[in-house]
Amino acid sequence: MLDLRAQHATIRSEVLAAVERVVDSQMFVLGPEVAELECELAGYCAAPYAVACASGTDALILAMRALGIGPGDEVITVPFSFYATASCIALTGARPVFTDIEPDTFNMDQRALERTLERHPRTKAILPVHLFGACADMDAINELADGRGIPVVEDAAQAIGAEWNGRRAGSLGRIGCFSFFPTKNLGGGGDGGLLTTADRTIAERLRSLRVHGSKQRYFHEELGMNSRLDALQAAILRAKLPYLDQWTAARQSHAARFAELLAGVPVILPAAAPGCTRHVFNQFTIRAPRRDELKQYLAEQGIQSETYYPLPLHLQQCFENLGYRAGDFPVSEAASRDCLSLPAYPELPAEDLETVAAAIRSFYS
Ligand SMILES: Cc1ncc(COP(=O)(O)O)c(C=O)c1O
Repeated sequence: MLDLRAQHATIRSEVLAAVERVVDSQMFVLGPEVAELECELAGYCAAPYAVACASGTDALILAMRALGIGPGDEVITVPFSFYATASCIALTGARPVFTDIEPDTFNMDQRALERTLERHPRTKAILPVHLFGACADMDAINELADGRGIPVVEDAAQAIGAEWNGRRAGSLGRIGCFSFFPTKNLGGGGDGGLLTTADRTIAERLRSLRVHGSKQRYFHEELGMNSRLDALQAAILRAKLPYLDQWTAARQSHAARFAELLAGVPVILPAAAPGCTRHVFNQFTIRAPRRDELKQYLAEQGIQSETYYPLPLHLQQCFENLGYRAGDFPVSEAASRDCLSLPAYPELPAEDLETVAAAIRSFYS
């Protein structure tokens, strides 16, 4: 699915020099490397402020905390996503309220959102996900949110560099949340995360919340977390950032090639909404009839594929208390049954794309 060694081989000397720089500096937590990374990523994401933290999950939790979300509050999100999209809400004591996705883009459905908002007039935030690297319809979501004075938090964990009508993910809502988990388009040498915002007060609160709710050491204004980014991670990410656009271009070209190679095969290719002017393809995800059989068939030929996500969030055991049932979100449930992500990382050799496509074609022939 992902050969990180292939990427590392191309940037080994830069990454090792970055690690050496940090080790020589003996400044391991936050510090100038993290401040520089924040500056570079604020520029990349076209957001006035960027605040680094320990993971994408923490970024989401910090975003909820910075908006004052807690017990008694409701936050609307989608059930077809990674666990952290909803756990960040529940971990604050608030209640995740799910709304279904669109079948073609896998992102939040604005008509469903409108209905959900009508049923939940006291919603405190809306949390759309830019799933697989394609932006959710941020015009429609922002319009519904703005009219009600509700902040929108973007889960942009999989979408660094993605654009909606030419505007970057992370600059489209009140707060943007990113992950640097190694499988992400910009992946560190471990966990890492980032928040972006145009709101200075929120940025300051996030900076305090990530260091124990403290602006001045040993004085704590509110209950915060330890969610500092390590300088080693920041240095590695800074070494990789100059390559991100070329890696994204390779992902896009693999997606285009897959579309050619899979023409006429009875699978549905990924489609972004028309407003998504830059899809960064963190995953290349098809909808495949007899998905599990196809996955098994590919595995028998040494081809890895991945099921993101086999069980939607509203049916997860940890959210049983929310009272949702099978059938509540049919589009998400269908996506969980038939989505399959194929290898499409930047360094994937062209022959491998052909091998994967040929194997899929032969499965359906
Ligand atoms: C959509 C989404 N949200 C949140 C996260 C959480 O990020 P992290 O793994 O860095 O905590 C991920 C990572 O897998 C993700 O894909």
